Amino acid sequence: MEWLSLEGCWALMAISVCVVCVWVTKKREEKGVLESDGERFVVPRGSWGWPLIGETFEFIASGYTSTPVSFMEKRKSLYGGVFRTHILGKAIVVSTDPDVSKVILQNHGNAFVPCYPKSITELLGKSSILQINGALHKRLHALIGVFLKSTQLKNRITRDVEKIVRLSLSSWMDKSCQVYVQDETKKITFQILVRVLMSIGPGDEMECLKREFEEFIKGLICLPVNLPGTRLYKSLKAKERLLKVVDKIVEARKTAMEENEEKVPPNDTIDVLLRDSEESDGIPLDFISGNIIEMMIPGEETVPTAMTLAVKFLVDNPVALAHMVEENMELKKRKINSSEDYSWTDYMSLPFTQNVINETLRLANIINAVWRKALKDVKIKGYLIPKGWCVLASFSSIHMDETNYENPYKFDPWRWKKIASAANNIFTPFGGGQRLCPGLELSRLEVSIFLHHLVTTYRLSAERDEIIYFPTVKMKRKLPITVTPLDQ
Ligand code: HEM
Repeated sequence: MEWLSLEGCWALMAISVCVVCVWVTKKREEKGVLESDGERFVVPRGSWGWPLIGETFEFIASGYTSTPVSFMEKRKSLYGGVFRTHILGKAIVVSTDPDVSKVILQNHGNAFVPCYPKSITELLGKSSILQINGALHKRLHALIGVFLKSTQLKNRITRDVEKIVRLSLSSWMDKSCQVYVQDETKKITFQILVRVLMSIGPGDEMECLKREFEEFIKGLICLPVNLPGTRLYKSLKAKERLLKVVDKIVEARKTAMEENEEKVPPNDTIDVLLRDSEESDGIPLDFISGNIIEMMIPGEETVPTAMTLAVKFLVDNPVALAHMVEENMELKKRKINSSEDYSWTDYMSLPFTQNVINETLRLANIINAVWRKALKDVKIKGYLIPKGWCVLASFSSIHMDETNYENPYKFDPWRWKKIASAANNIFTPFGGGQRLCPGLELSRLEVSIFLHHLVTTYRLSAERDEIIYFPTVKMKRKLPITVTPLDQ
């Protein structure tokens, strides 16, 4: 053994250990796990792609096309509805199977926790509703959900949304009747969001929140390097400034609450969380400001995107637009004749409009998937998801699958007449299970109100524009449209 030095022996041993580990893992993956009842669970088939980068380039490249699900489609045809891959530095099981995704979302036994890219986890903070798990998550989720779904909030917010939408639409007349729908809807929905979360109205405080929030979210998808001058650093600084503003609001509200002994219904999310934090085992007080800011993340871009894409799909489909105008005009006339105010049920009971919203959410795939990490080996429908692996439950693959929806790339609101319930496991724009979006009903209400007043006020014609799907869904040119008042 003279030819082999001591260092050489160590290196050889290390390589042998690695080879054995890879071999054992591979064998385990191939054989899977045999249960006592004879059922076998295997790690889904797939490819790891290139060393280190895996299949990341293909994944991102497909995001820039008009068919971002092509990455999933190709692998689904090769390996089946659940496959493994390696993207963004992680070993991932991708589910395009509605039954498997349902189990992942329901998360009985708490086997899965959210798993975001590092830049997002750094920006969110440890106590964010988007990251916490277990009993505290359940409590926070329930509190927000109950409040956002309450009749009392819906009655009040319907009037507020109407006011904001009407004001915004009337300002379009001054803009030579040419507007960018994406920008306009963002302005509308931000006002609603800060009202629901912390009762802030238009003014300097709202402008400051908007400015800092835009700076904060720029870092959600960036290199996770926190050094002066980097994107992440700037976003974290913006979050500090945001926290200062929200902390002040929470403090003032707490003092007012202590001074006023009479118990009135909560006005906004801060009220809901503050009241709970006063109870023993309630939400910790220092959770509140951070969570208010973090709740703005899922709400800020999604609703205006839904509004913008609904407008895009409608102007591209004149028959559907004509139907929308007819249905909404009928309601408008009824309201004018009876001199009654609109209620939230008026908007929500317009069947064709609701079908347009369903179809928009299905085609737009605003949140195209959710990411989870398995805390233990999980067995679902013959598949083994090994402990520590990430799981991507792809909603867009399910929404764009022709076994679930005939002619899936067609905008066809009429298809929803035949689909029994929009709440089944092939339609999950708002996720499902433990983390089902608490803003679901509020979002639908906002989009309904916006569409109603838009199509009953203006005739629309849009210029050519394209949908971009990566990193988030938006219009390439912000959807420029020309509006002409209907009474002209
Ligand atoms: C069209 C609009 C919207 C869409 C498509 C949407 C979609 C989603 C999805 C898919 C999830 C699940 C995430 C996961 O499972 O990890 C989610 C969660 C969430 N959404 Fe929404 N959302 C929308 C609007 C809103 C609004 C307006 C708000 C706030 C007022 C909001 C607040 C939240 C919160 C707080 C969560 C986290 C729930 C939890 O983890 O317990 N969303 N949303």
